[in-house]
Amino acid sequence: MTQSDILIIGSGAAGLTAALTLAPRFRVTVLAKGALNDGSTAWAQGGIAAVLEPGDTFDHHVEDTMVAGAGLNDRDVVEFVVEHAPAAIERLIGLGVPFATEGNALHLTREGGHSHRRIVHVADATGWAVQEALQRAAESHPNITLVPDQVAIDLATSRHEERYSGAGNVWGVYAVDRRTGDVNLYTAKATILATGGAGRTYLFSTAPRGATGDGIAMAWRAGCRVSNMEMMQFHPTCLYNLEVKNFLITEAVRGEGGRLINPTTGKRFMAYYDAVRMELAPRDVVARAIDAEIKRYGLDYVHLDISHMPADFVRGHFPNIHEKLIGLGIDMTTQPIPVVPAQHYTCGGIVIDRDGRTDLPGLYAAGECTESGLHGANRLASNSLLECFVFGEACANHIAAHWDALPPVPKIRPWDESRVTDSDEEVVIKQNWTEIRRFMWNYVGIVRTTKRLERAQHRIAMLTEEVADYYGHFRVTPDLIELRNLLQTAELIVRSALHRHESRGLHYTRDWPETLPEAVDTVLVP
Ligand code: FAD
Ligand code: SIN
Repeated sequence: MTQSDILIIGSGAAGLTAALTLAPRFRVTVLAKGALNDGSTAWAQGGIAAVLEPGDTFDHHVEDTMVAGAGLNDRDVVEFVVEHAPAAIERLIGLGVPFATEGNALHLTREGGHSHRRIVHVADATGWAVQEALQRAAESHPNITLVPDQVAIDLATSRHEERYSGAGNVWGVYAVDRRTGDVNLYTAKATILATGGAGRTYLFSTAPRGATGDGIAMAWRAGCRVSNMEMMQFHPTCLYNLEVKNFLITEAVRGEGGRLINPTTGKRFMAYYDAVRMELAPRDVVARAIDAEIKRYGLDYVHLDISHMPADFVRGHFPNIHEKLIGLGIDMTTQPIPVVPAQHYTCGGIVIDRDGRTDLPGLYAAGECTESGLHGANRLASNSLLECFVFGEACANHIAAHWDALPPVPKIRPWDESRVTDSDEEVVIKQNWTEIRRFMWNYVGIVRTTKRLERAQHRIAMLTEEVADYYGHFRVTPDLIELRNLLQTAELIVRSALHRHESRGLHYTRDWPETLPEAVDTVLVP
């Protein structure tokens, strides 16, 4: 058993921000399920939204966020996050993040849904620089212990106390060590879930392999509400390539002049879908437009073309994308890029308040695994890293302010493996994993119908029985843990989608095409 003051599950932007805020006063342990930099944070390209230009205002950023979120956002939370953005950028500069500059000022790029240039960035690999800076600071802090390769299975709660108290607290997690297969117990007075999103529920996703909704599923099983899980964001422009399946082409390419072209007609098509905002309409609008063109013309992809801009400008702004594409035989300075929409971001998640508190005492959450009220029905580009910084800090501040009132950790039972054996049928996991991701893509994608959702629900019910049986009989492995969580998350997404009888933001269904006058969260209660 390992005991610390505070336990954080996740070493991305949210987890490391919380750890660095707490470390001056407390002993913090941070778990990651693989390498420390294998979450989405390191993959972020475009940047971080913040009001930094004289012509821009907090009100504009708030309004753009609410418009993208189709009114489902919590305005107070939006204001809270937007107003904390400039300070978050200052802290990152203090940690050594080398944001791009123009003269003496930060260079601000533009993305869909933003009325102003507002995105600070490190060329087209912002996340990598942010992850490096946060990790460097955490690694050198004597109060922070970073433990990679620990796959959290479930939260340790009052139900696991040796003498059951009935208090309903969370006391840490059980996690399997990927290298040894042993299950370790990590305890703490406060636990923060910062486990990222659930993109890998879908066949095509820009998210890394580990985005399997683990934190959302663990919190749900322990008794937390989840909200707006039907709001799955599809990024309009993922590279279409038969070998490289999930490489994002940043929205900043459109922000800097990139045009979407139908390869059959050779025509720019966004004018038919959003004549004013064109390629810079919010993501749901652009993704649906591409989906419609692909279906109407029987295409495999559409073209994203920035070759009309000077070659030096393109190479200077997008050095990493340019290099990657050159390796695949595409020169974006002279040729269009084949793109398709792909799952990109999980807007819904664990319900938290402004301090990052969940429904359970001792459990906090921050980042993509949460539903804080910021994104509503569709996340505005580059608002999610920002959310990680603001809520990572908010959790930490709340824990620090209430530390003396937190009860001590009681004795927790160790993990019990006395009734399970080693699996003899690993192929079951692979088969089910592929099946879930395929029907989620086909039935619960960009355009939905009640019939498709019901089909998915039926498949999920059958697989849930199979996986529960498997879980009950065999020793846990990282793949089994992820499969169980993937299935749980898929169930929450489909149930939420069936619950919403309208189309709003990212949730578009042919059976309920209208938007209702009042925006209401879908809240599922365990
Ligand atoms: P992550 O960074 O995903 O970290 C999750 C952590 O949790 C990892 O350390 C992982 O190991 C750990 N973990 C998960 N499950 C377990 C478990 N069971 N046990 C132990 N540990 C676990 N947003 C922007 O604002 N701007 C952008 O430009 C941008 N570009 C993006 C580009 C791509 C390709 C992608 C995929 C996303 C992009 N996003 C962007 C979204 C943004 O990157 C993420 O929302 C954000 O990084 C999430 O951070 P996080 O800290 O919540 O989780
Ligand atoms: C991108 O660079 O297009 C991604 C930005 C985001 O997801 O916020």
